[in-house]
Amino acid sequence: MNALDILQYAGLVLIQALWAMLPAYVANPAAVLVGGGTPIDFGKNWKDGRRILGNGKSWRGLFGGAFLGMCIGFIQIAIVRLAGISFLEDFAVSGLEYGFIGVLFTLGFGAMLGDTAKSFWKRRKGFERGQKSPYLIDSYDFMIGAWLLTMCCFWTWFWSAFTLWHLLAVALLTPALHRLVNIIGYKMGKKAEPW
Ligand code: CTP
Ligand code: MG
Repeated sequence: MNALDILQYAGLVLIQALWAMLPAYVANPAAVLVGGGTPIDFGKNWKDGRRILGNGKSWRGLFGGAFLGMCIGFIQIAIVRLAGISFLEDFAVSGLEYGFIGVLFTLGFGAMLGDTAKSFWKRRKGFERGQKSPYLIDSYDFMIGAWLLTMCCFWTWFWSAFTLWHLLAVALLTPALHRLVNIIGYKMGKKAEPW
């Protein structure tokens, strides 16, 4: 392998990794756009007297975000199949007709579950809604949620879509992408804080 081969492989890994994660990447900011209304915790407090999740986690955001993430996945499948792009995942699960709906669900809904779990953790630690949490947790919540749920439900698909290099690429890019999208959301007036 010479330097050019390595560069080419790195580029391919990057594109494939972002492509396979797109439903999760879309779900998270989509929740900001469609969220609001009844909070998931119905305004209730935990034993510690703090909100269970807080007003930043709504049912509309949870299901709307997951649904819009899945919608992007359907468009991706159409693109891959119509254009016959062989190096990109089409979310099909081998041996499972229509299994792709499951993968799209676990990517989109897993992202939102990760985001919800993060808020639960933040409230227990005493962070207010919207307050920045340490260790880039606000950036990684949805990535980890999408990975865990998809890995648990579709182990074979997960490891066919992601090699360790792909996971590394996603882990390195996610904080930068998350920050960029949040700054855009902030400037559009859709998000209260730029993180
Ligand atoms: N949102 C929502 N429902 C969700 C997730 C997000 O309505 N399930 C919307 C809320 O308006 C929320 C915004 O998207 O304020 C940004 O989401 P996020 O940054 O995850 O929440 P925060 O408001 O920062 O709250 P937390 O401190 O709990 O992370
Ligand atoms: Mg936030």
